[in-house]
Amino acid sequence: MLRDEKNELDSLKKLMSWLHLIMESPLVIIATNDAFQEFRTLLKSSSLPADDLNFQRDLLVSYVEDNVMVGTGGLEIYGDYGLLRSLSVRLGTRGKALGTAITEFIIAQARERKLKAIYLLTETARGFFLRKGFTDVSRDQVPAVLQQSSEFAHVCGKSAIAMHLLLS
Ligand SMILES: CC(C)(COP(=O)(O)OP(=O)(O)OC[C@H]1O[C@@H](n2cnc3c(N)ncnc32)[C@H](O)[C@@H]1OP(=O)(O)O)[C@@H](O)C(=O)NCCC(=O)NCCS
Repeated sequence: MLRDEKNELDSLKKLMSWLHLIMESPLVIIATNDAFQEFRTLLKSSSLPADDLNFQRDLLVSYVEDNVMVGTGGLEIYGDYGLLRSLSVRLGTRGKALGTAITEFIIAQARERKLKAIYLLTETARGFFLRKGFTDVSRDQVPAVLQQSSEFAHVCGKSAIAMHLLLS
């Protein structure tokens, strides 16, 4: 990550912490190790990979309801492209548009950063992402920089479907 991007992410984390306190926004950017551990636990309970995540490098977002983390999402940035991953909502809290709120927040962040497109891999939520405007893309059309990410290279099985959302 470039120094400017790192500074921008640090400023955003501070701003989101304040917004959460002042406006009681349910969306909180992960900025501490404790929150990061809770994020990873929730992700694993949805059977999603969490070992290769890094909250200091990536934009990791949680959805907090009554002081309990009930949703997660993440955006990894590779040059002009974003990789959306780690989207999960706690069982028992699904179907209440929390996944939608997290996804829309991540898309807004990608637009703000003037990324050209967001990519993702999914085995379980293609229908969800179709509703959010993503479309299928063949893996060989995915930018090389993303194909080298751990998500594409190691973490997700070959059966996962690649999707993208063009932003410009
Ligand atoms: C996918 C997930 C994050 C959706 O969260 P959610 O808060 O339940 O989703 P929302 O309530 O915002 O759903 C929005 C719409 O998508 C639909 N939807 C939700 N999950 C879906 C799925 N897995 N496949 C297809 N459609 C889905 C909902 O029925 C809803 O439809 P509607 O607008 O007609 O009512 C959640 O089901 C989850 O955590 N799944 C397990 C982890 C996972 O598969 N993550 C994706 C990794 S790539």
